[in-house]
Amino acid sequence: MAKAAGTVYVCQNCGHQSRKWLGKCPDCGEWNSLVEERARVTTAPKGMAARGGFRLREVKPVRFGEIESQDDARVSSGIGEFDRVLGGGIVPGSLILIGGDPGIGKSTLLLQVADKLSAQAARVLYVSGEESERQIKMRGERLGIEAENLYLLPETNLENIFDELERSEPGAVIVDSIQTVFSSKIESAPGSVSQVREVAGQFLMLAKNRTIPVFLIGHVTKEGSIAGPKALEHIVDTVLYFEGERHHNHRIVRATKNRFGAANELGVFEMTGAGLVAVANPSEMFLQERPQGVAGSVVAACMEGTRPVLVEIQALASDSTFNYPARTAQGFDTNRLTLLLAVLAKRVGVDGLLKSDVFLNVVGGFEVNEPAADLGVVAAIVSSYRNKIVDPKTVVFGEVGLTGEVRGAMQAQARAREAQALGFKKIIMPASNTAGLERLIGLRAVGVRSVEEALDELF
Ligand code: TYD
Ligand code: MG
Repeated sequence: MAKAAGTVYVCQNCGHQSRKWLGKCPDCGEWNSLVEERARVTTAPKGMAARGGFRLREVKPVRFGEIESQDDARVSSGIGEFDRVLGGGIVPGSLILIGGDPGIGKSTLLLQVADKLSAQAARVLYVSGEESERQIKMRGERLGIEAENLYLLPETNLENIFDELERSEPGAVIVDSIQTVFSSKIESAPGSVSQVREVAGQFLMLAKNRTIPVFLIGHVTKEGSIAGPKALEHIVDTVLYFEGERHHNHRIVRATKNRFGAANELGVFEMTGAGLVAVANPSEMFLQERPQGVAGSVVAACMEGTRPVLVEIQALASDSTFNYPARTAQGFDTNRLTLLLAVLAKRVGVDGLLKSDVFLNVVGGFEVNEPAADLGVVAAIVSSYRNKIVDPKTVVFGEVGLTGEVRGAMQAQARAREAQALGFKKIIMPASNTAGLERLIGLRAVGVRSVEEALDELF
């Protein structure tokens, strides 16, 4: 590609380039996201080779059968919950992006990971463009870190960082944060899409060539996405997000993309005075403060990745004084809520709901985005609307279809077992899923075919 001259306008959301400024990105539709940047010199491998070091390996076709299987090569991070999110441990040579709101605990988690990794005799380099060594040291002392093999590098210049990487050859690298690192080969400001993409590309090369894990911490913009999200998420192997709110003590880390494991896998931590501590049983924690004997509260059995989690769903349905009743949902898709209300009105005959304000909340800052949570939502709404209590020892799950039918969901066994383990007595679930669940001790599985059947069973 020819060397481009002058300025280009780059969308900070998706990386789309335009010769002139536009109010709306034609690619991703984001408003006001185009920023003037210096046209970049295309980084062919030539540029890197010229600098020495991380040139691409000579590439030849390899016979499929001769490629070493990587699956047993995972390294434990020493933190069980973190291993779980990554799909069973850290894959050497992977580039992992960790995103989240400021102050949610990204640096804390990765300092803990760095500590554990360095205890396994790997030299870990923690590159920090955000905080000084002293600040990190202070945090480390709070966490009780005494890692011998952990090195801190307060540096933001990519070329300098790579010089250091050549010298010290660490076994793992952490970059806090990718938005602060810049390459002097590109004129755009640190944190711009061109910079972030270049920096991520270089670290990808490093990870693959040295077969070491590289962790990139990424900030989340006000709109809730990592700066240049599409550009970055394509480059990295794994994307982890901190979910939930800072007002709670627990922190949920979810894999939204993982080339080496199941996406949607999640780990649950609690922020304590001495850092993040894994939560052994998330269901128990989410149900801790559940009100007893109150209408509008239902426990739903959800799957998060490969793990069943029981969550409390709360609804409040009240007569609206407006022509357009309010519909808000926390932790659940608002469009889906509207759809379920329409099903309740049309198929089940709960007409009054169309003129009611409906508020929905998945307790604990948790987000459920699987269809099997539908029945829980429906049950909570009807419970609130009719002011009838759902038995607190009952748990529900099932997808609700447009004709009011209850459809099967995956992993019914796992959900039922989780409910059984937590002492629930009854599980209301899709009839098509009940096979094999008759023998559960202490838990009665009730199969239903429609929302009406489910409501009869509940109330
Ligand atoms: P931090 O990891 O600095 O957040 P991020 O890197 O995502 O911006 O976390 C900072 C917050 O965590 C801060 O509000 C203090 C709190 N914290 C604890 O509660 N306990 C601890 O042991 C540590 C280190 C931090
Ligand atoms: Mg930080």
